[in-house]
Amino acid sequence: MDRMPKKPLQQLHELSITPQARAAIKSQQPRCIWLTGLSGAGKSTLANALEVRLHGQGLHTCLLDGDDLRRGLCSDLGMTPEARKENIRRVAEVARLMFDAGLIVIVAAISPFRSDREAARKLFPEGSFLEIYVSTSFAVCAQRDPKGLYRDARAGRLKNFTGLDSPYEAPLAPEGDIDTGGLTQSEACERLWALVLR
Ligand code: ADX
Repeated sequence: MDRMPKKPLQQLHELSITPQARAAIKSQQPRCIWLTGLSGAGKSTLANALEVRLHGQGLHTCLLDGDDLRRGLCSDLGMTPEARKENIRRVAEVARLMFDAGLIVIVAAISPFRSDREAARKLFPEGSFLEIYVSTSFAVCAQRDPKGLYRDARAGRLKNFTGLDSPYEAPLAPEGDIDTGGLTQSEACERLWALVLR
């Protein structure tokens, strides 16, 4: 596929209203808070709770959830490693656009490959990208199995399932990690909040 050359952090065109101005009028510092982890780890629940909390403080947010984006922007993509790479590339680019709009962006996506998450991080100014590893174990996720996907994958009805026949590469140096396995929902949300404040 032919691609445009990689764009720099600044836009190619001279902008009258800069990303900084868009953020300033909202009285906030944009961030990208990127939640990665297995299916069923609790990413969407945590992302939702975090957005509620930020919104309650009068902050302007945007939540990008893998499951939702795969129904629209990424509905043409499957679950092969190549498709996941493209999925995460698109999610990261959208996150960057939302960031430039002055928003605090929360991403919840398995994003199983380290290199794809690193590529996402590079789209953001230093210090504004927080990678949070939702490190809930495979065993706990499989036991929860909220969508019945682990059951289907084990029965061979679902291919390329993360943690079974598709790899998950845990972050080596995330800004934080949360294992929701031993925590109540509210404890896990508090931990995420503490990480974000830090
Ligand atoms: S990612 O790997 O490309 O980052 P993403 O977060 O967008 O994945 O989508 C994951 C969601 O797709 C899961 O929450 C689950 O509901 C669904 N899903 C469907 N097939 C699979 C699969 N083979 N592996 C993992 N998740 C799957």
